[in-house]
Amino acid sequence: MAGSKFLESLIAGSSEKMKEVRRHIELAAPYPVNVLAVGPTGSGKELIAKGIHKLSGRTGKFVAVNSAAIPAELLEAELFGYEKGSFTGADKGRKGKVEEAAGGTLFLDEIGDMPFSLQAKLLRVLETKTVQKIGSEKSLPVDFRLVCATHADIGSLARRGKFRADLLYRIAVYTIENPPLSERTEDIEELIKILSIKLKKTEKKITPSKFDKEAIGFLCSYDWPGNIRELANFLQKCSVLYSGKLLTLQQVRTLMPNFNNALSSFDDQATLWDAAKSTNDRQLSLGAFSLFEDKQNIFSEYSNIFEKNQPISLKKFLENIESTLIQAALKETEGSIDQAASRLGVDVPVLLDKMKAHSLFEPN
Ligand SMILES: Nc1ncnc2c1ncn2[C@@H]1O[C@H](COP(=O)(O)OP(=O)(O)OP(=O)(O)O)[C@@H](O)[C@H]1O
Ligand SMILES: [Mg+2]
Repeated sequence: MAGSKFLESLIAGSSEKMKEVRRHIELAAPYPVNVLAVGPTGSGKELIAKGIHKLSGRTGKFVAVNSAAIPAELLEAELFGYEKGSFTGADKGRKGKVEEAAGGTLFLDEIGDMPFSLQAKLLRVLETKTVQKIGSEKSLPVDFRLVCATHADIGSLARRGKFRADLLYRIAVYTIENPPLSERTEDIEELIKILSIKLKKTEKKITPSKFDKEAIGFLCSYDWPGNIRELANFLQKCSVLYSGKLLTLQQVRTLMPNFNNALSSFDDQATLWDAAKSTNDRQLSLGAFSLFEDKQNIFSEYSNIFEKNQPISLKKFLENIESTLIQAALKETEGSIDQAASRLGVDVPVLLDKMKAHSLFEPN
């Protein structure tokens, strides 16, 4: 199907979550329903809007307006346009973005930041399908497809009276949730490939760097609060510093200050690797805590962590340790899952689940 192929090239990711996002775009696109894309910053909400526009078959323009980026007092003129002389400095009249999107799609980004007073005016446009320029008495009919996006919890804004509930019902007829990158780390390797191709095209002087398996495993254990945008920036930074090189875990770690903050008090993750290496069946038979007793020094490091560091995410922190210990066990046993499971004192299915969660499988 042409639409599916187009969407796969626009919005990469083979994870179930991304397949679901693309499926929703295909379902909603042909119908004149207002779509709301929600998800954290940098997760690709604008791509959802572009996907809807392309698959809607509408031949007009895709017109984007970011409510957070335009000062509140200018946003109304930007959206609805104005007549000549309607305010000081309006030497000529201007079309608004709503009118520009006629026959196409109007994408209202960061709709949660739209001033309350303007929300009422937008609601009127949606209800009457007409727009009135500032300083004009006339209402012009408009025909646009509306897609909105927000990184905020807009339902909660509405409950707290900060966003009009009646507007929310109008704009969120079909809501598409874009998951954070940390919930689809299995897409990271593929995204790096795609972002590398894009980088090569846009920055001719840069040769994207590559990442070895351990480095990829490490990237998969990071939280990526800036999502794909942060991954793209990170790739660019690596590529500038290590043009075309194959980067190792160690090199990648030194390039990720946020991650290093959380781990710096360990001196190096080497202590954890040593801990995992010294784990043997005898120690395990003494019970999981024997390691803690033998390696008091490792754990005493943790008690000082907040002296030197920013706040950490306990969940991510523990996940990173788990991923490191699993990788250490696999390295020590030369990839034998049976032996690694026994080193770690877990059953094979448990180890397999955890390897899957940490994206530690070899690509087929
Ligand atoms: N699935 C994806 N495949 C390929 N590129 C992606 C994907 N998702 C996002 N990107 C790229 O990541 C960058 C950020 O995406 P986008 O601007 O759509 O995010 P956003 O959710 O709108 O962020 P914000 O809330 O900060 O506006 C863009 O350069 C986009 O092309
Ligand atoms: Mg955006």
